[in-house]
Amino acid sequence: MADTGANTQVNLIKAGLEDAVVSTSEICFIDGHKGRLLYRGIDVDDLVAHSTFEEVIYLLWHGHLPTRKELDAHVKALSATANRRLAPKIISILRLFPKKTTPMEILRTGVSALSAFDPEAGDNSREATLRKSLRLTAQMPTLVAAWERIRRGKPPVAPNPKLTLAGNFLYMLSGKKPTPLATRTFDVALILHADHEFNASTFAARVTAATLSDLHSGVVSGIGALKGPLHGGANEQVMLMVEKIKDPARAEGWIKKAIADKVRLMGFGHRVYRVEDPRAKHLRRLATELGEQIHNMSYVEILNTIAQVVTAEKHIYPNVDLFSGAAYAAMGIATDQFTPIFAMSRVAGWAAHVLEQHGNNRLIRPRSEYTGATDARYVPISER
Ligand code: CMC
Repeated sequence: MADTGANTQVNLIKAGLEDAVVSTSEICFIDGHKGRLLYRGIDVDDLVAHSTFEEVIYLLWHGHLPTRKELDAHVKALSATANRRLAPKIISILRLFPKKTTPMEILRTGVSALSAFDPEAGDNSREATLRKSLRLTAQMPTLVAAWERIRRGKPPVAPNPKLTLAGNFLYMLSGKKPTPLATRTFDVALILHADHEFNASTFAARVTAATLSDLHSGVVSGIGALKGPLHGGANEQVMLMVEKIKDPARAEGWIKKAIADKVRLMGFGHRVYRVEDPRAKHLRRLATELGEQIHNMSYVEILNTIAQVVTAEKHIYPNVDLFSGAAYAAMGIATDQFTPIFAMSRVAGWAAHVLEQHGNNRLIRPRSEYTGATDARYVPISER
């Protein structure tokens, strides 16, 4: 074994940091065996039944449910046009991108650009980070919707301060007020994606925050990690699979062949859950309700068949990404917008974790076990 440095004990953990506990946290708890997810101690099922995304944001950031007065002030600030609108120069930057740029690339670059326009970008105090978190959470839906309009050759729609974050996003996409069912479905989807303990993107955000870097940098790190198909990018991949299958009658045969071919099945499996992801049932129900409303149940039927076969044959279970896309598609949202929508919600969790990390910080800097050469000689280029 190579000498890894003075007094270094090699203490290898499982690949992918499986089961490694890297910090304490008071934000989110997952019981992977019982299929329970708690935000600040409250079961996400209760939040879906009784809360709103705005209230969940407050809960994650402040650690307790707001009073009526606190909630009203928080909702007002999140809805204010001054916080939701994008600087005209940001819109000008968006117009410069090739139309083929994916929404996730736009979001990654756009959040980074928003930092340059934030009056408190370099201030890492808790108060300033809370204010920046609020502005960024309010701006991200405007950014995502503006790119959708611009790439389709349409002018962006100005935010409507009378609408909730969910309703306003759907409004800014189409220019039409969404139905109550679409608004509530979208709000529930935002609640369900808001936080998930030390998932890859949150860990990335915390690693960045732990260098005493700022909120926007942490969120950009989070977006980069979320983009991959093993994480948030899975919801888009699920829809591409459903589009390939097309007909519910073909679903069983298609998925059995995929299992036989040892294909990685998007929307299934999880590092922590050993049972069905508690978020999946809500999204299944909402996708079903929306499918019924638009008289098109084919996506949901395909997904139900796939879920049945995969669970029975592979003993891996649906995760949050299996049914979310079917709900978004029923609202007419483009497939490559599914992961940016995930980010529009997860920014609440990333911000809570940046605040927690800054509140009790130590640089996150693990080691590797070096397995390379230790006595290689520099060979002059003329001798190689
Ligand atoms: N399809 C096929 N086989 C799977 C899958 C899957 N989706 N998930 C796990 N397995 C199998 C895997 O082949 C392996 O089998 P074996 O031990 O026989 O080699 C075993 O289960 C363990 O898999 P793993 O890849 O070591 O598990 P992991 O904890 O590293 O991966 C995961 C977790 C989420 C990356 C994985 O389940 C996966 O790739 N799922 C598909 C992508 C996906 O839906 N991601 C979203 C995750 S939840 C929301 C989010 O984070 O955004």
